[in-house]
Amino acid sequence: MARIIGIAGSLRKGSYNAALLRAAAALAPAGMEVEIASIAGIPLYDGDLEAEHGAPKVVIGLQEKIAASDGLLLVTPEYNASMPAVLKNAVDWLSRPPKGAAAVFGDRPVAIIGATPGMGGTRLAQAAWLPIFRNLGARVYVGKQLYVAGAGKVFGADGSLVDDTIRSLLSEFMAGFASVIVGR
Ligand code: FNR
Repeated sequence: MARIIGIAGSLRKGSYNAALLRAAAALAPAGMEVEIASIAGIPLYDGDLEAEHGAPKVVIGLQEKIAASDGLLLVTPEYNASMPAVLKNAVDWLSRPPKGAAAVFGDRPVAIIGATPGMGGTRLAQAAWLPIFRNLGARVYVGKQLYVAGAGKVFGADGSLVDDTIRSLLSEFMAGFASVIVGR
């Protein structure tokens, strides 16, 4: 069984990206399991805090989960044509000791998807992550792409995925990601 850690880059209760992550986990193909993890409670990166106390427990816990996984599914919102600061902040902490970038991200399959109420489907945010994961030595999954635009109509009021086209594209995306991991 391939074990994937899924992270949505929004702290909002009604987050479309958290909804997309839940849908992705539900649509994972046989042989792949997505554990939903959270970036809630991660403080702003502060080198003094790190030097005095080391990484916060919440960061170490997430580092351990990712390091023990077969891959990472990042579900990114788009803010000002790039990634949101809360998610970049989390990745910055995750790249630091005690585990460090090589153990957490090195050679790890990373798939990126995202949702926005806007028209662009998080294309710019997803593109903005590429140099970051390249720098971290991750293996970014490029086999398929998924950009969820008009999220207000794609998800119901309860956060469930109600768009059949997106369901089918998400299903294909997860199958494609699984195909590069299972039996790796
Ligand atoms: C946004 N939003 C946004 N959307 C987009 O498609 N392109 C963008 O550049 C931006 N810029 C932006 C900046 C800031 C500061 C905020 C707060 C929002 C809208 C954004 O996609 C929307 O708030 C989503 O709902 C955020 O994702 P979650 O919280 O629903 O997962």
